[in-house]
Amino acid sequence: MNQLPAPPGAHLWRWTRDPLALLRDGAAAGPVFRLRLWRPAVVGYRPDWNRAVLGDLDTFRSARSLSGLTPYLAAGVVAADVPGHTARRDALNPHFHRRALLPHEDRLAAVVLPPDGPFEALSWAAGAVRRMLNAALFGDRCDPALLAAFLTPLDRPLPWPLLPRPRLFRRMDAAIAAVLARPPAGSLAAAVAGLPDAAAELRVALAAGYDTTAHTLAWALWHLAGAPRWRAEELLPAVTDEILRLYPAGWIGSRRAVRASVVAGVPVPAGTLVLYSPLLTHRDPDQWPEPDAFRPERFADGRPAWSYLPFSAGRRTCLGAHLARLMLRVALRPFCTGDLRAAAGDPAPAAGITLRPAGPLTLEYRPRRARPARPADPLAAAAPPR
Ligand code: HEM
Repeated sequence: MNQLPAPPGAHLWRWTRDPLALLRDGAAAGPVFRLRLWRPAVVGYRPDWNRAVLGDLDTFRSARSLSGLTPYLAAGVVAADVPGHTARRDALNPHFHRRALLPHEDRLAAVVLPPDGPFEALSWAAGAVRRMLNAALFGDRCDPALLAAFLTPLDRPLPWPLLPRPRLFRRMDAAIAAVLARPPAGSLAAAVAGLPDAAAELRVALAAGYDTTAHTLAWALWHLAGAPRWRAEELLPAVTDEILRLYPAGWIGSRRAVRASVVAGVPVPAGTLVLYSPLLTHRDPDQWPEPDAFRPERFADGRPAWSYLPFSAGRRTCLGAHLARLMLRVALRPFCTGDLRAAAGDPAPAAGITLRPAGPLTLEYRPRRARPARPADPLAAAAPPR
């Protein structure tokens, strides 16, 4: 592994300051490069690497990888490894399938509450996603103030999302347990109520689905404001695909190798932190022509496997991918009519626990108003304003 190219500088220091620049420099050094973090790490971003790492759950484990660093993700299916992981996913998957989620659509649409006038896209999106997650997961039965308190640390820069918050987590778990005791019909809580560890699975789904979806939604609004020809309901899937390509919220994924192996021709010793980066994969000019351009039409022929991984791939693929797509479609739909403009902002990606716009993103939205009814008396219509 020591033969691999490496970006310049003190890696751990650079990782804590600006990991995206470090990754970019690494990618320029070669398709697989090494990093000296708190343990030796190796990063690849070509399809053969992604397939080898994500396809072998036995060698590349979640335990003691990056997700375990935050209490928000150190539980439930995220923290499980094979064989326990397989059983958990088999139990959860049917409830998160596209078709199983369709009955949620109207309930989600009812809580989107589009703005009217100037708004900041990140904070509006955060509120809308909190309301949609409350509707889908808990049938609206979770206290919105508690939900906001629980999720807000994820909106803050590192190291905030990494700090333990035992009291807050206990309050959230108690609230989820109360919902699970009498779960509202049709909610995901009702669907998973009988499963082992249901409360932990719901808490992890809530955290994993929050800032990821909110940041994606904010970026989508920004780009829709700048490219009005894409503001059409039937084009939203391609727009969403392209936003997720340009800004994959899960910008880095990690596993820990539990045995020595050869990955895409590269020997990887046991104990190595094995990283894949949807961001590097999606911005690789060898895989995506003009990778920095917003061009939803590139998805006309579908999504290429292993070089498009906003939701990862393989058996650990995002549990909430269909829920995320549903929330995004439902939340973006109102903005396809009316007047949407970007006023000011910085959409450049910045790395936190998820990728987020440097922001703020100030936009303005005026919904299309219903036409005033034609006055019955033509003279009344001609009367001067008082
Ligand atoms: C745009 C929004 C989202 C993005 C970009 C996203 C991205 C991802 C990625 C890249 C992974 C794999 C991480 C890894 O390699 O370890 C993942 C896993 C996961 N996501 Fe999402 N996610 C999103 C929304 C959601 C939502 C709404 C939920 C709620 C159900 C969710 C729940 C999960 C869970 C439970 C896992 C762990 C799966 C496993 O380890 O088997 N995500 N997500």
